[in-house]
Amino acid sequence: MYEIIRKEQLSDAIVMMEVKAERVAKSCLPGQFVIVKIDERGERIPLTICDYSREKGTVTIVFQTVGVSTHRMGALEQGDFFRDFVGPLGNYCEWIDEPAEELQKKKILFVAGGVGTAPVYPQVKWLHSKGIAADCIIGARNQSLVILEDEMRAVAENLYVTTDDGSYGMKGNVNDCIKKLVREENKSYDMVVAIGPLIMMKFVSLLTKELGIPTIVSLNPIMVDGTGMCGACRVAVGNEIKFACVDGPEFDGHLVDFDQAMKRQQMYKTEEGRRYLKEKEGATHHGGCGHCE
Ligand code: NAD
Ligand code: FES
Repeated sequence: MYEIIRKEQLSDAIVMMEVKAERVAKSCLPGQFVIVKIDERGERIPLTICDYSREKGTVTIVFQTVGVSTHRMGALEQGDFFRDFVGPLGNYCEWIDEPAEELQKKKILFVAGGVGTAPVYPQVKWLHSKGIAADCIIGARNQSLVILEDEMRAVAENLYVTTDDGSYGMKGNVNDCIKKLVREENKSYDMVVAIGPLIMMKFVSLLTKELGIPTIVSLNPIMVDGTGMCGACRVAVGNEIKFACVDGPEFDGHLVDFDQAMKRQQMYKTEEGRRYLKEKEGATHHGGCGHCE
């Protein structure tokens, strides 16, 4: 059992929880994720790690209460427990293995969309801890949905906040901000890391392809086992089939088939869609996600 030692409501529907999970905290790195389960029958929910403390043995997760399971999770309080907290899963960010002197020469721009700000934070924090500067854009629909701004400001070289409705920061979406930085302020970047909704990562990748900036995205599809066995998280990357849980979650944004990923995400929401995927892709989905059995 994994105790929630701190809970914070970041916005109406976005919750942050610091969870005692010593084994995960001991070895996790930015980019990796965990799969959590409230109880025996609960849905397995994959969440990219937002922060961790090796000293305290804790891992911080951030999630949006959108469905039955995440609403149940959101109702948990400090002192309550998760039944399962499995991880660290997936690969850590590839650039972590690059020598610090090489990374120091690179200008990296992080693009965080909405709840995607949570998985961006540990990456910028890790770089900052090694003395490597990185710029960051946080995009949200409105001011109340801007999360982790203070935390991000403490670790980013330059932080830009955009809101779709102009209620805070620059008015517009993250792409408007990238265009402003690159085309109007003549900033140049060697790499973009974009994490947020699929539609955002698709359009950021289209823009950075046009601008000639290599781009990494982090995919957070439906996952079941998180170990490459069930096929639930399959994604087409450069005409190859990959599994986000074991091959990712980070991929080259210029190669990901976002349209297919978005279609799959929609299909998983209905029983008919799940049946169709099972027929088309084979019996790779063996239940346990809480949707099918
Ligand atoms: P949102 O819909 O509020 O969008 C956040 C920001 O993304 C917008 O304010 C805008 O700046 C940008 N954006 C959205 N559509 C865009 C477009 N077409 N072009 C350019 N920019 C665009 O985001 P949300 O509701 O916080 O996100 C929820 C989604 O994010 C969920 O589907 C969740 O699965 C996903 N998510 C992914 C990860 C991950 O690791 N990849 C992590 C957390 C959440
Ligand atoms: Fe990736 Fe099952 S969750 S293969």
